[in-house]
Amino acid sequence: MGAVIIGTGSCLPKRVLTNHDLEKIVETNDEWIKSRTGISTRRISGEGEETYHLASSAARKAMEMAEVTADAIDLIIVATMTPHMVMPSTACFVQNEIGANNAFAWDLNAACSGFLYSIDTAAKHVLVDRDKTVLVIGAETLSSRTNWKDRNTCILFGDGAGAAVLRYQDNDRGLIGSKLYSDGSLWKLLYLHSSPSCNPEIEQVDNPGPHMLMAGQEVFKHAVKAMEKAVNELLEKENVSIDDISLMIPHQANIRILKKLMSRLGINQEKVFINVHKYGNTSAASIPIALDEANREGKLKAGDLLLFCSFGGGFTWGAALLKW
Ligand code: UT7
Repeated sequence: MGAVIIGTGSCLPKRVLTNHDLEKIVETNDEWIKSRTGISTRRISGEGEETYHLASSAARKAMEMAEVTADAIDLIIVATMTPHMVMPSTACFVQNEIGANNAFAWDLNAACSGFLYSIDTAAKHVLVDRDKTVLVIGAETLSSRTNWKDRNTCILFGDGAGAAVLRYQDNDRGLIGSKLYSDGSLWKLLYLHSSPSCNPEIEQVDNPGPHMLMAGQEVFKHAVKAMEKAVNELLEKENVSIDDISLMIPHQANIRILKKLMSRLGINQEKVFINVHKYGNTSAASIPIALDEANREGKLKAGDLLLFCSFGGGFTWGAALLKW
């Protein structure tokens, strides 16, 4: 152990989009959205709230809490599937924006599991290079890749960013372990094309445009089963019981997914941090936003065992265990 989170931050766009606002855009209603997803509102980016702006703002707050200056950051990882540009990476935009002149920076795309993959990667960096400081960010502007005519998806997603600063400490705190998985064979159940990915002479298949497409019910079933299995495998590997967990901070996609997961894992809702009602599904940003809220609300005490789990496009999924 020793890869410790020493600061967290988050940033949400100003504009709140309610279920009633969505009633004016597609054929839906507040009651359906709340009962099927648990979502009441989500945040939508406007001018000056691009992915790297949200990411940089969350990063500054995390660095302030960690009492780390920009020139002390050695590595920046931005987990995103809605980068500001394909090139340069959003992480390079963040580096420039916050003035982290000594850092190298890259983006990591693992959809909704991006933050867990990034924390795992960051932890390995600080355990090998023990004097390094790593900034991990999950940031998304999903509203830019949402089909606002598709009621199956447009009600679900929101924008935002969360960040964490990691550093080595010679103690028993930090990332204990993680179990991360991918299954590319199921990609067609949840995907998002960007601009054409090959030259016009090569026929492109399955490209309906740069919007999220999802087989909702299929994804739902896979999400519950996969997260349950990942958590149980991780707990067994680390010899930890679900009763030992102080707080579970899951990816926030749908309250019904979370309730099914809690019931299968045998964990009480009081021990699960939930904010999906406020922000919807913010993909890679959802866990770090929730972590920062839990932290700033005073819900985390030194020595607490935190359990994270996620599921997203790819498919990608996993779980991580951390001693706060
Ligand atoms: O981040 C990880 C990836 N994403 C997820 O984890 C999301 C996983 N899936 C889900 O959360 C749920 O499947 C949804 C919320 C997307 C959908 O809920 P559902 O209970 O699976 O609904 P459904 O797709 O089976 O649709 C039920 C009915 C359908 O009507 P009929 O065929 O029964 O007449 C839909 O056309 O609800 C209809 N419907 C809507 N009605 C009002 C679908 N979307 C809406 C809507 N408003 N927005």
